[in-house]
Amino acid sequence: MEQSMRDFFLFLAKNKALTKAAKKYGLKFGASRFVAGEDIDQAVAAIRKLNEEGLVVTIDYLGEFVDNKEEADYMADNCIQAIRAIGREKLKSQLSLKLTSLGMDISDEVIMNNMRRVLDAAKEENIFVTIDMEDYERCGKTIEIFKNLKKEYDNVGTVIQAYLYRTEKDIEDLNDYHPNLRLVKGAYKESQEVAFPVKADVDENFKKIIGMHLMNGNYTAIASHDEAIINWTKEFVKENNIPNDQFEFQMLFGIRDELQRRLVKEGYKMRVYVPYGTDWYGYFMRRLAERPANVAFVAKGMISK
Ligand code: FDA
Repeated sequence: MEQSMRDFFLFLAKNKALTKAAKKYGLKFGASRFVAGEDIDQAVAAIRKLNEEGLVVTIDYLGEFVDNKEEADYMADNCIQAIRAIGREKLKSQLSLKLTSLGMDISDEVIMNNMRRVLDAAKEENIFVTIDMEDYERCGKTIEIFKNLKKEYDNVGTVIQAYLYRTEKDIEDLNDYHPNLRLVKGAYKESQEVAFPVKADVDENFKKIIGMHLMNGNYTAIASHDEAIINWTKEFVKENNIPNDQFEFQMLFGIRDELQRRLVKEGYKMRVYVPYGTDWYGYFMRRLAERPANVAFVAKGMISK
């Protein structure tokens, strides 16, 4: 039952007509629990509040699967607007983005131009940019683009998903670049040809790649709400004398707030992924897929709005 709900929401996440419709009608169905607002001012207010509580941030202007140059350029302009706002307001925030929002599916020229525009602005403001990882179909290309950009910029990183079979090899290959990587379980619907179908195997692979990347001496963001993974990491770093400034924990805005604050109190770096914008639909559907209990919020949202 749980698996079919998950598949249903991941299927809905890719629906283009619903994505378009959702943009017109504002944050609905309880999406504001996971999305900081529709414009940069609301996002800035949310970040300031988190910073005051000792949490650092990575901001994300929501958008994905853009199929025309005009929109991709507009998305890049919005990323730059976010970068300037972080600089101007002196916020403790990095930036995250999706390559399909900046033109990856259009052409190499569009995506590279937009990424260079964003990374140049980010460099000026001393801001680190993480390239989110999307579906498997785009994983190889995302890593190639990341490698090319990493040769030109030192303020760029990407994400590696523990549910993919290819991941262990990617961690090995990427070590030549000594990258700052965000490690996650993986949020898309993938076939068992390419991804572990059983959660326990994903969790084991997650621990394996966290250990590998840390032991290679690289900066590692452990992005998970899973307390077992977090506790395992705490033990691992202690046993292997890995300093606190070689890693950080990351979680999504609105998820396990109490655990986020507890980690700050314990002295760990804790970064919150703060998404904002009108293109909230696909992101929201993936959050529902991760935890069917969240559907209760949707039901409540539908009744009250
Ligand atoms: P798991 O799903 O096992 O959840 C552990 C516990 O956390 C649950 O029991 C529940 O208590 C809580 N929880 C988890 N998800 C929840 C939710 N939606 N609502 C409420 N509670 C929830 N993925 C990807 O493919 N590409 C990417 O670029 C990113 N980027 C990214 C950045 C950051 C900062 C985070 C935290 C996560 C991502 N992800 C991602 C998503 C990631 O792949 C994964 O889908 C989610 O983090 C859920 O997996 P957990 O590791 O939290 O464990």
